[in-house]
Amino acid sequence: MSSEENPVRLERRGAVGILTIDRPSRVNALSRPTLYALGRLGRELVDDAAIKAIVVTGAGEKAFCAGADLKERQGMNNDDIRVQVGLYRSELGVLDHSPKPVVAAINGVALGGGLELALLCDLRVAVAHAKLGLPETGLAIIPGAGGTQRLGRIIGEGRAVEMICLNRRLSAAEALDWGLINRVVPEGTDLIDDVVDWIAPIANGAPIAQAAALKAIRTSYDVPLERGLELEAVYYDDTLRSQDRLEALDAFANKRKPNYKGV
Ligand code: COA
Repeated sequence: MSSEENPVRLERRGAVGILTIDRPSRVNALSRPTLYALGRLGRELVDDAAIKAIVVTGAGEKAFCAGADLKERQGMNNDDIRVQVGLYRSELGVLDHSPKPVVAAINGVALGGGLELALLCDLRVAVAHAKLGLPETGLAIIPGAGGTQRLGRIIGEGRAVEMICLNRRLSAAEALDWGLINRVVPEGTDLIDDVVDWIAPIANGAPIAQAAALKAIRTSYDVPLERGLELEAVYYDDTLRSQDRLEALDAFANKRKPNYKGV
């Protein structure tokens, strides 16, 4: 049940951990307790060896997350807001740096910090009626949870400027076309069922390889190519030392499905 004491719900479906922001009356906005809950429960899933992927979603059909809680913010002074912006990095950073792939299951509007939460995920899937935007400059501020840094890396600078400075909101179809999301779920399909099916290769996959691949791909945005290639070799080495790599070869030789153990 939704409650301000428990603004985020945690559910486990096999190897998938699902975090649901559960504040539908506030369009799942990111209050301070919500940020702390996402950090705490995100850490719990990252530390849980049985979990191989994390899904973040919102309760209800209207909103994934409408960003900063503007009602809470009314009572904040500038220092309070600086602390809040810091919490986006410290608490949501758990998901940003997760060694397990994190998927945003966008069940409705994703605005401001809500879209920024989706941007720090590794994959984004949306329902057809989702709307995605960064309206901050219209509120006389700028995106403060990574939006100015991540959006252009995903969709390119010109389109990022269009979304941020022209307050352009995208439909799910446009977001797919722009490469902002990976997938729109077919009409009539349950979003979470669809996402869990879609990420089966991760849930059934080799976690050490998944983590190494994520590290290598994330690194590629931060370093020159030659350094990235060196680091790719380092992360490749993580997989060479794993039992799962030997299990993959044995399964291939014996024409059976591999049973990965994450070691
Ligand atoms: N923080 C806190 N409460 C919010 C909110 C937010 N970011 N966005 C909406 N709400 C509240 C509304 O005040 C309203 O509460 P009320 O019934 O007590 O008045 C309730 O959520 C529903 O919002 P409403 O605007 O009536 O619903 P809607 O379906 O017409 O529109 C949105 C939904 C999300 C599109 C619209 O509310 C909106 O644009 N919100 C602002 C989002 C934003 O600018 N976020 C960036 C912040 S930096």
